[in-house]
Amino acid sequence: MAISVMHLHKPVLLKESVELLVTSSEGIYVDVTVGFGGHASEILSRLNESGRVIGIDRDVEAINYLKEKLKDNRLTLLQGNFSDLSEIIENLNITKVDGILFDLGVSLFHLKELTRGFSFLSESRLDMRMDTSQTFNAWDVVNKYSQKDLERIFAEYGEDVYAKRISEAIVQKRKKGTINTCRELALIAEEIYRRRGKIHPATRIFQAIRIEVNGELENLKKGIISAYQVLKSGGRLCVISYHSLEDRIVKNFLRDGARSNKLKIITKKPIKASFEENRLNPSSRSAKLRVGEKI
Ligand SMILES: C[S@@+](CC[C@H](N)C(=O)[O-])C[C@H]1O[C@@H](n2cnc3c(N)ncnc32)[C@H](O)[C@@H]1O
Repeated sequence: MAISVMHLHKPVLLKESVELLVTSSEGIYVDVTVGFGGHASEILSRLNESGRVIGIDRDVEAINYLKEKLKDNRLTLLQGNFSDLSEIIENLNITKVDGILFDLGVSLFHLKELTRGFSFLSESRLDMRMDTSQTFNAWDVVNKYSQKDLERIFAEYGEDVYAKRISEAIVQKRKKGTINTCRELALIAEEIYRRRGKIHPATRIFQAIRIEVNGELENLKKGIISAYQVLKSGGRLCVISYHSLEDRIVKNFLRDGARSNKLKIITKKPIKASFEENRLNPSSRSAKLRVGEKI
């Protein structure tokens, strides 16, 4: 495992999110996207001896790495999907928790570790699974989906104006043989799009395929419902999202909760990273933090 790469992940909106999450130094907090432990460490630093953190991640490599790196008897680490949060909490014999943090998407490790097949710079096989025990992967999407289905995911999940052209180009290319590597797919995108600013032309289609492979939007919808169920009254749900599709789900959930008097919205407007954080950590540029408190 490329540990040096893991160290590259800089937690986003660290102080802002944990400040709003932790309301009791002896509470139980769940970091459902524990990754490489940036937020979990900050939460632990604000708890006393009675406090507890449950860290969950779909990626077993992240969990195994963190088990070695962050040894703290107040921390429990588990591989799992946050869409199953209520079952996970029940299995730990915990009834309710004080706060839950979601820091969505992938970590820098996923993008930089070329063998995981997330990066358009990579010569490795198209993959993009966060949970490597899952069989469905990016190769299946690129090589088996119909042109209509490719167009749909590029339009919906990539919000890509060239969705039709790129899906047609993929299907044309497939007539000559399968598309196997990230680089091969990126080259198809490069032929179609003109480079727009600093963003690589394949960014949107890679985002769309990653969302499809990992069922990210469905998991988020289930995850926040599950989170609400396991929160105590007064407990907080904090979500950091990185694109408008995720943010819309969170915003609507909080708005509906507030309308039905189930939640109080703590962040009237989403909190964004400071200019300084944007400068030091480009991944923070699209981040939005929203927080709700269970009534
Ligand atoms: C942006 S990173 C989190 C980084 C972390 N906050 C830190 O400080 O290192 C997102 C993490 O969420 C995980 N993840 C994404 N979807 C998930 C899901 N449905 N269930 C559990 N973990 C998930 C990814 O594997 C990734 O490690």
